[in-house]
Amino acid sequence: MYKIPANTLFLGKQLIFVPECHSTNTLALELSQKPSTSDGTVVITDNQTAGRGQRGNTWQTEPGKNLTLSVILKPTFLQVKDQFFLNIFASLAIYDLLQSKTDRVNIKWPNDIYVNGKKLCGILIENQIRGLQVSNTILGIGLNVNQQNFSKSSATSLSLETGENYDLASLLQELLSHLEARYLQLKAGAYQILKDDYLNVLYWLNKLHVFESNERQFEGKITGVDEFGRLLIETLNGTEVFEVKQVSYVN
Ligand code: BTN
Repeated sequence: MYKIPANTLFLGKQLIFVPECHSTNTLALELSQKPSTSDGTVVITDNQTAGRGQRGNTWQTEPGKNLTLSVILKPTFLQVKDQFFLNIFASLAIYDLLQSKTDRVNIKWPNDIYVNGKKLCGILIENQIRGLQVSNTILGIGLNVNQQNFSKSSATSLSLETGENYDLASLLQELLSHLEARYLQLKAGAYQILKDDYLNVLYWLNKLHVFESNERQFEGKITGVDEFGRLLIETLNGTEVFEVKQVSYVN
């Protein structure tokens, strides 16, 4: 049902569809260890039964309604110290896709895609490191497309936001083109452009909000991310720096 994209150079040229699997990230990781698997291979399913999310969470998705895929990348040009740019390029590509269809799209640090204050897409990036380089990356994407009901009120889908129903195969083609365009920007070393674009659409940037860290609630303003991708929040104590698991957004 999913076609090899005609308009990309390498991304998705090898497309593996499985009707059902536990996790496309797990399957993609296994396949990526085989020499015959090329850079840019996409693994996609209609029914993911044990989806994995960030911070050890699960990812649930209704069969046949959404895009559930993993992209195998070999970003050997990328230094380990710059690996946060994988979050940046991927979330920007999905931002690019969604903002062509609806308004009020933001990236919530580090890489959730929000529309109208609700989560529409989650990304799970799993890297393998060799020496100082990133040798293998599995980029997992769960994009809520036509699903109408969610157990969490904080989740949404493209269909709920726009009132339209989408053809998953066409949307995948568009997604892969955006992913390739942003990935090639990264490969070309356009770090400053990528970072500026990311900050421009960062959720809650420069607005006063309440956060929580170590059971302490505090007010602050997100001012950006540092060179390691850590979140910078300006608080009464000055600028505080947070790793992914160290801070949550309250309101
Ligand atoms: C998150 O927001 O917690 C990340 C969710 C990532 C879900 C996707 S769905 C495709 C791929 N396979 C997985 O098991 N997880 C990712």
